[in-house]
Amino acid sequence: MTLAPAGLNTGSHDLPVSPALDAFMATQWAPSPLPAHLRVPGHDRFPGRRARLSAAFPGERLVIPAGRLKVRSNDLDYRFRPHSAYVWLTGLTGEDQADHVLVLEPAGPEGHEPVLHLHPRSPRSGGGGEFYRDRRYGEFWVGRRPDLAEAARLTGVRAEHLGHLEKLLTAPQPPTRVLAGVDPYVDAATGRAAASVQDRELAAVLAELRLVKDTWEIGQLQLAVDHTVTGFEDVVRALPTALRHPRGERWIEGVFDLRARAEGNGTSYTTIAASGAHACVLHWIRNDGALDPDSLLLLDAGVETDTLYAADITRTLPLSGTFTPVQRQAYDLVLAAQSAGIAALRPGARYRDFHAAAMRVIAEGLADWGVLRIPAEQSLAEDSGLHRRYTLCGSGHMLGLDYHDCAQSRADHYLDGTLEEGMVLTVEPGLYLQPDDETLPLELRGLGIRIEDDLVITSDGAHLMSGALPREASAIESWMSTLLS
Ligand code: GLY
Ligand code: MN
Repeated sequence: MTLAPAGLNTGSHDLPVSPALDAFMATQWAPSPLPAHLRVPGHDRFPGRRARLSAAFPGERLVIPAGRLKVRSNDLDYRFRPHSAYVWLTGLTGEDQADHVLVLEPAGPEGHEPVLHLHPRSPRSGGGGEFYRDRRYGEFWVGRRPDLAEAARLTGVRAEHLGHLEKLLTAPQPPTRVLAGVDPYVDAATGRAAASVQDRELAAVLAELRLVKDTWEIGQLQLAVDHTVTGFEDVVRALPTALRHPRGERWIEGVFDLRARAEGNGTSYTTIAASGAHACVLHWIRNDGALDPDSLLLLDAGVETDTLYAADITRTLPLSGTFTPVQRQAYDLVLAAQSAGIAALRPGARYRDFHAAAMRVIAEGLADWGVLRIPAEQSLAEDSGLHRRYTLCGSGHMLGLDYHDCAQSRADHYLDGTLEEGMVLTVEPGLYLQPDDETLPLELRGLGIRIEDDLVITSDGAHLMSGALPREASAIESWMSTLLS
């Protein structure tokens, strides 16, 4: 790949273009500007965010790429989703953002000037026919993209052609930081130079700046949750069909993903639809199993809005419509753990507190059942307590533009940090009782249960954003029964 569009992205099977056709294609197109009033959603938020980033790195050039297209095969690329830091700083979210780069250029005594480096709409004449021939960037292949002036109007940020970027990335001054973990659009030689300055500190600061959500972001997250609730209802309504299908898990994935794609950009992560013992695999995304009507279904799924905010919700449902006594006993323990975790959420609490509260309930429950053969207190006191064999992972995580949001934050801001008003997170304890676990009584083997909700920290506690979905066992049974009648 070269910086300038020297070569068109055409397929070997594309028919040659005659000079006569090329000349004809260059003429007689009416102007079609973007409506002048268009702005990125939430556009008034972005200057403040860039100013906070700028303040953290005075005098340094900051390079925040949207990321690159990834080839799936031949001329077929995977769908593109821009890096969340780029989205957070620009509000630009579309698939046409591939290769684009935001640069914060040192300007003035302390500040920065933001400049977007873009691949603009190709001209109808003098552009080598890119608009109708190029499979990656051509308007007639993948749709209209803004020109430089339009991009500047949409975002309030000056826009330049991507071709100017290489000079910046190879210049010795000013000191330049390139966001780690995402490649800028550069040729092979520059790419090596850029890789050497990939910067973890920039990634950490950007993640930490995103930890507390503003009111507009919380509104977007609530929208993601609301669409996810609808998707869960769709799945319950589709259960009779899914139960008849030899790969019922796939059917469920398809039903949820249809809702996600119809209402938003798609899913926030690959849908987990796990029947029976598949639910003991934390991220079961093969989803190729049949649904056993006597078992539980673990559905872990979320809608991502068009603005790229994520929901992440899990429910564990009895496929028969009613929990058996053993299923209910296990379900109620996870529910009690989740409730204890939720009750521990408040500003000023340590991030680890809700996990500790949930784990205390799990360990005590397992000890009561005789599964955990040491006292709960002893298991909890040890770093790798034995109860963790049955519950495996942490009890939640931050949620935002990414479903595992702000993951590059340093421990003192996140894992070892303190909750603040405006943080959004999930609480998702689980029990994963493996089907081949000889420490378990037979009736418990193969049960996998997770309950996951999305919450925003308020001034005195936390608000349950996903409260429209039932959590308690009997409420789940009546909700299912209503949807299925
Ligand atoms: N909801 C699954 C996860 O957070 O990994
Ligand atoms: Mn989660």
